[in-house]
Amino acid sequence: MNRRYYTAIILSLIIAPVVATSHTGSLLLPEGCGSCHVGHGLSNEPMLPIAEEDFCYRCHGPSEQRSQMVSEGLLAPGADLKDIKAEFDKPYRHPVVEGFGHSATEKLPALNGASANHAECVDCHNPHQKIQPGLRQTADVPGFSANGQYRDEAVHEYEICFKCHVDPAGGRSSRKDISRQFSASVRSSHPVTRPTGGKRPVSLKSSLIAGATMRCSDCHCSDDEDAPAGPHGSVYQYLLSGNYNTDVRATESPLAYEFCYSCHNRESILDNESFPLHREHIEGDVLRNIQGTSCYTCHASHSSDRYPFLIKFNPEAVSASEKYNLIDFRSLGDRTGQCYLTCHNYSHDPAEY
Ligand code: HEC
Ligand code: HEC
Ligand code: HEC
Ligand code: HEC
Ligand code: HEC
Ligand code: HEC
Ligand code: HEC
Repeated sequence: MNRRYYTAIILSLIIAPVVATSHTGSLLLPEGCGSCHVGHGLSNEPMLPIAEEDFCYRCHGPSEQRSQMVSEGLLAPGADLKDIKAEFDKPYRHPVVEGFGHSATEKLPALNGASANHAECVDCHNPHQKIQPGLRQTADVPGFSANGQYRDEAVHEYEICFKCHVDPAGGRSSRKDISRQFSASVRSSHPVTRPTGGKRPVSLKSSLIAGATMRCSDCHCSDDEDAPAGPHGSVYQYLLSGNYNTDVRATESPLAYEFCYSCHNRESILDNESFPLHREHIEGDVLRNIQGTSCYTCHASHSSDRYPFLIKFNPEAVSASEKYNLIDFRSLGDRTGQCYLTCHNYSHDPAEY
């Protein structure tokens, strides 16, 4: 083993935990800038040996590739880096393979048909950022604040997401405009852009303290708890941490709503600790030949424009009530409310609880 690497490992073991390091100052990168930038490099790339994600995978990919980097003297043998590529090989993932790098002037549409929909590692990560214990790994990247202001350096994770998950027309209207779904105008939302409010939902497992927030990547992340953090890829649809069956007719099981049950206690929900008719709707009623239905029939995942408790009826499941020709929800206080709608061939005119 080359003595320089050996010294680097010893130093990194002793110093790394206490000294702020970065890609550019890391003792784990024996050649410094030269561990990444080489010779003349590819054309249109700032002296990088290979393009885009394949470049990052040299060190953040499969272990064979890392060993290769170690044997070339570009990475210290002590570096304990995780395999990010395995995440991007999953069926639901950010499209890093598609398209090419984004230029500084290019808009980053998530929906625009004019250019391939894609995202790059460097859209969310700055390869030159300072890496310090406790510092976010997405620091030093531009983003948009919750009210649509450009920021050179995103302060919150969601600001990076709002670069792309906005209405490409700029109108903040499309269904896929996630930034609008978390804007100040919504009636209720999961606490991403605003802190938790007064009353803690009875089913909530962790005691999230008042004033705390959650991150998009608390929900959109790997299905595997041991995988690297971040919204890279998942085996589950919508790039979620767990399975979520959104079908109108669904059979309840721990797996069907695994995703929601990871934070909301299944027993609490099915014991009707909040909504007195949760179990009846979620499990259905065999005697009356009514099948169970998904949380998604009544709840939005991000926010509800009009109602508390994230209530938003799935249009595929409900139609207007017969008597009042209305789809509406009215909360009348704790654990009481009214629904105006028609569902499972039954007109709620209104149905009260
Ligand atoms: C971990 C790998 C890595 C290391 C270490 C690294 N760079 Fe880079 N550098 C990159 C990547 C990737 C890009 C392209 C960024 C992009 O496409 O947005 C880049 C881009 C650049 C650019 C082009 C302008 C820019 O900022 O995009 C310059 C100049 C540069 N690096 C200089 C350096 C210097 C000097 C060092 C050492 C102090 C260094 N880099 C260390 C990966 C690295
Ligand atoms: C030559 C090897 C090498 C390359 C290429 C490389 N990295 Fe890294 N990366 C490292 C090392 C080593 C660390 C750990 C730094 C430390 O703790 O000193 C690291 C840390 C990180 C971290 C912080 C999380 C962690 O595990 O500590 C992120 C995020 C990251 N890299 C992203 C990228 C991206 C994105 C690219 C491609 C643009 C890239 N890296 C290319 C070697 C590399
Ligand atoms: C509490 C968990 C949770 C949080 C927090 C969350 N999401 Fe989601 N998200 C979901 C679920 C569940 C779905 C799929 C069902 C649906 O569309 O309602 C989804 C769907 C999506 C979709 C696909 C939408 C579509 O119509 O195809 C995108 C994009 C998305 N989320 C981005 C984000 C971003 C960006 C943030 C942070 C600003 C975020 N999510 C925060 C749970 C969450
Ligand atoms: C859509 C945005 C996005 C893209 C694209 C993306 N990442 Fe990440 N990544 C994140 C977020 C968010 C985190 C979690 C940050 C945190 O917890 O502080 C993360 C975490 C990481 C970490 C640290 C994981 C850990 O547990 O230590 C590494 C390394 C990393 N990303 C590398 C990459 C590489 C390499 C690519 C491209 C192949 C990439 N990322 C693409 C958003 C992204
Ligand atoms: C550079 C642009 C870009 C950034 C930044 C970005 N995304 Fe995405 N995201 C995309 C694209 C492109 C897709 C593919 C789906 C599409 O075309 O709408 C996608 C897909 C997703 C999906 C899956 C949607 C589905 O229907 O299955 C989720 C969830 C998601 N992103 C969450 C996030 C989160 C959370 C962040 C911030 C940490 C983020 N994204 C940042 C571009 C981006
Ligand atoms: C990562 C954890 C997490 C996941 C996963 C999650 N939630 Fe939540 N949920 C929370 C937190 C935290 C709150 C508390 C919000 C507050 O206090 O403002 C909450 C609140 C709620 C509320 C009450 C909102 C209000 O305004 O009173 C509903 C309804 C809800 N979640 C439904 C769901 C459904 C349905 C799913 C699955 C699609 C889900 N949640 C998945 C963490 C989560
Ligand atoms: C038939 C419609 C309906 C279905 C289906 C439904 N809910 Fe609800 N849920 C409600 C209503 C209405 C409330 C508000 C109760 C109140 O007035 O306090 C509520 C309240 C909640 C709350 C906030 C209070 C608490 O319990 O912490 C959570 C969380 C929640 N539901 C999660 C879920 C999950 C998870 C599922 C699926 C497994 C689900 N709900 C299925 C109608 C529904």
